[in-house]
Amino acid sequence: MPLDKLSVNRDGFSSKFGIIAAAAGSAIGLGNIWRFPYIAGQGGGAAFIIVYAIFIIFIGMSCMLVEFVIGRRSQRDVIGAFQTLSPGKPWFLSGWLATVTITLIFAFYSVVFGWTLDYLIKSVLNSFSGMSPNEITSVFGNTTSQIFRPLIYTFIGIALTVLVVMGGVQKGIEKCAKILMPILFLFLIILVIRSVTLPGSSKGLLFLFKPDFSKLTGNTILTALGQAFFTLSLGVGTMVTYGSYIKKKEKLASTVVYTCILNSCVSILAGIAIFPAVFSFGISPEQGPGLAFVTLPNIFQQMFGGYFFGIIFFLLMTTAALTSTISMLEPLVAVTTEGLKVPRKKATIIIGIIIALISIPCSLSFGIMSGVKFMGMNFFEFLNYITANFGMTFVSLIFTVFVGWFLGSKTVKAELSNEGELKVGYYPVFMFLVRFVVPVAIVVVFLSGIGVI
Ligand code: TRP
Repeated sequence: MPLDKLSVNRDGFSSKFGIIAAAAGSAIGLGNIWRFPYIAGQGGGAAFIIVYAIFIIFIGMSCMLVEFVIGRRSQRDVIGAFQTLSPGKPWFLSGWLATVTITLIFAFYSVVFGWTLDYLIKSVLNSFSGMSPNEITSVFGNTTSQIFRPLIYTFIGIALTVLVVMGGVQKGIEKCAKILMPILFLFLIILVIRSVTLPGSSKGLLFLFKPDFSKLTGNTILTALGQAFFTLSLGVGTMVTYGSYIKKKEKLASTVVYTCILNSCVSILAGIAIFPAVFSFGISPEQGPGLAFVTLPNIFQQMFGGYFFGIIFFLLMTTAALTSTISMLEPLVAVTTEGLKVPRKKATIIIGIIIALISIPCSLSFGIMSGVKFMGMNFFEFLNYITANFGMTFVSLIFTVFVGWFLGSKTVKAELSNEGELKVGYYPVFMFLVRFVVPVAIVVVFLSGIGVI
C-alpha cells in the first residue's frame, strides 16, 4: 500500500505537548523511581550516574531517534515498518523479536505495578501504623508470596492499561499522558522538598553525588547500559510505534532531547527524594529492590506527615507505572490491528488477557513457584534477565544497523529534516554514532557483561 494512503486514516498524536507527554510517560516509569535509585546506590552513586549519563547522551538518544525515524517513515507498527521500508528482506524479524520482548517485559512489569497498587491501598488504609520496622519488612514478603492477592492487583493494573489503550492514540493514550505527567511532576517535587528538609539529609545527597569509582565493574557498566535502554523504553518497538504517530511536521530530534531530559530529571529527582530520607533515618542505602517497598514505608512511618507522603509516593509510582504499561500495550495492539486487521477494542482485550496469563507465573515466582529455577533464577528474574540483556540490546543493535547502513542516507536525512525543511547540523554526528559507536558499544558491553571479554 502506498505510504500516504496508509497514513490518512491513522490515529496519531495531536500536539507537540501530547507527543512529549506520551514519550516521556513511556520513558518515566518504575525504572526511574524504583530501579534507578537502588542500582545507583549499589553501583557507586555518582560514578554510576556518570557512566549512565554518557550512555543516555551518546547511545540512548541516538537509538531513540533511530526508532522514531523507522516509525515515522513507515507509518506502521514495528513489524509492518520493516515490511514497508525493506520489503522481502528479513529485517521484519527484528520487529518480531521486539514484539516478543515487550510481551515478556509487560508481564513481569505488571507484577511490580500490582505491588504498587497494593501498597497504595495499604498506605491509604494506614496499614503500617503501629508496626515495628521488622514487621514492616515482613509485610513485603508476606504480600508478594501470596497467591491471589498480588495476582488480583496485577490484573487490575493490566485492566487499567487496557481501558486507556482501548480509547485510541489521541483520545486514550495522549489524553491520559497529558493529565498524568504534570501530576507526576507535582508529586515528585512535593517528595523532594520533604526529603531534603529532613535533618541529616545532606549525607544522602553526598552519597548520590559523590562518585565511588571502585564500584564500577564490567557488570555495573552493563547494568548502566541496560538501564539506559530500559528507562528510555528502547529496543522493543515502543518508540517505533510512538514515532509512527508523530505528525510529519513535528521535529523528531527535539522530541528526543526533551524526552531524555525529562526522563533523566525524574531519575535524579527520585534519587533526591529517596536517599536523603534513607540516610536521615540511618538505614543502609544499598537495599536493592526492597528500597521502595521496605525502606520507604518504614521511613514514612517515622516521618512527620508520613501518612500523607506515603500516599503521594505510591500515587507517584502508580502514575509512572501506568503511562509506561500503556506504552507496552500499544505496540502490541498496533501489530495486531495493522498486521492482522483485528479491531482495536478486540485486540486490546485479547492482548490484555494474554499478558495477564503470562504474569501469573511471574507473580507466583515469589511464592509457590519460588523453587522453580531457570539458569538459577526464578521465572520473574529470568524474564527480566533475558529481556534486558538479550532482547532489548539485540533489537536495538539491529535497528541501528538498519538505519545506519541499510535504510539509505538520503531517506534518513529526509525524515530527520522533514523533507528538507529543517536544518540538521547534527546529522554527521548522529550518523557516526549510529554506524560505529552504538553498535560497537552494544557488542562490547554485552560481551563483557556475560563474561566473554
Ligand atoms: N521506561 C519504563 C521505565 O523506566 C519502562 C518501559 C516502558 C519500557 N515501556 C517500555 C521498558 C518499553 C522497555 C520497553 O519504567
